[in-house]
Amino acid sequence: MSEKYSFPKIVEDLRSNYMTLRNRSNLCSPSGKLAYEVLSERVGGRVVESFWYEDEQDKAAFGTFVRLVDIPGSLSGDILRSRRNLPLIEGHFEINGDVIRQITNPPQPPNREEDSEDLTPILARIPEIEVDPSRHFTKKGRYRSEVGNLLKCQGGSCPGTPLSPHIIQLLGKSPVGELVFEKLDPRYLALDRFCSIAMYKKWILHIIAALKVLHSLGTVYRDLHIENLLFSRDGQTLVLTDLEGRWGRRSAPEIVLEDTLDSDWTEKSDIYDIGIVIKCIIYANIPMASEVEWPIPPPFDRIVEVCTRTNPAEQPELDELEAMLAET
Ligand SMILES: Nc1ncnc2c1ncn2[C@@H]1O[C@H](COP(=O)(O)OP(=O)(O)O)[C@@H](O)[C@H]1O
Ligand SMILES: [Mg+2]
Repeated sequence: MSEKYSFPKIVEDLRSNYMTLRNRSNLCSPSGKLAYEVLSERVGGRVVESFWYEDEQDKAAFGTFVRLVDIPGSLSGDILRSRRNLPLIEGHFEINGDVIRQITNPPQPPNREEDSEDLTPILARIPEIEVDPSRHFTKKGRYRSEVGNLLKCQGGSCPGTPLSPHIIQLLGKSPVGELVFEKLDPRYLALDRFCSIAMYKKWILHIIAALKVLHSLGTVYRDLHIENLLFSRDGQTLVLTDLEGRWGRRSAPEIVLEDTLDSDWTEKSDIYDIGIVIKCIIYANIPMASEVEWPIPPPFDRIVEVCTRTNPAEQPELDELEAMLAET
């Protein structure tokens, strides 16, 4: 059987193995409680994952708190990798390696303050258009940076001329001042329908093309993840959306995990996120914890490996990545 022929079957098996592990793990629902807030922190060189679970009686209230220190090969590391389950302990607790400790005063869930900006001045530059819900997607803009980045990517005006077919175009504003875009397929409509080496290669090249334009404009995208990928109905075109460029992913190890805008995002952190997003595309999913082990089949294993190197200097530039894909 040729590799190309078997690729979709390999992916199908990987996805179903993961779902078996996930459904068995009591770190999250359905086997465990629903975590309505998960926070990753780096403490003393280790990643610490905190889970705030909802109260089973009172869904609006915070129920229990669990903190797991990621130490590979230990109880807490194994739980994060769905290899073992959380011990059945009442109340709040922490597992650091193999040591379990009850917590009496759990921290409150993070309180992310609303920090949206007044967009009136920048929206004055955007023409109003009539919205047709069958063709258009509307979004209430939150930050000036989103409108500014969108405009930059279409030559400074609206509708302007897109610099890349792989970056969403701002078509105008709605009568109530929302941003109006072409309606495309979100990931949950696309990822289950297409699975081939050729399609994934094409999508990764489209992500690279979009990032090249953003980087050339001096913008680090920051927020590369599958929820921000859109697809044409036939799957042949991937389009990057959500150009806020503000509160991004924090997966690259050099990025500060605290909620601060000054987090040292760089072009290389976008490249790290390419590796993560390829994994999510292949699994058509978002991992329940970033430690989850997702084997990646060839030829994408190599691409993921180079993108997610912990030393940014060892990660490829976008041009190199493009060349690597051309060779696969
Ligand atoms: N042009 C579009 N067509 C269809 N769905 C879209 C479009 N843009 C965004 N979406 C959907 O809406 C979600 C939120 O949009 P996004 O721009 O990412 O805003 P947020 O800042 O809330 O993440 C996306 O994850 C996607 O599912
Ligand atoms: Mg988004």
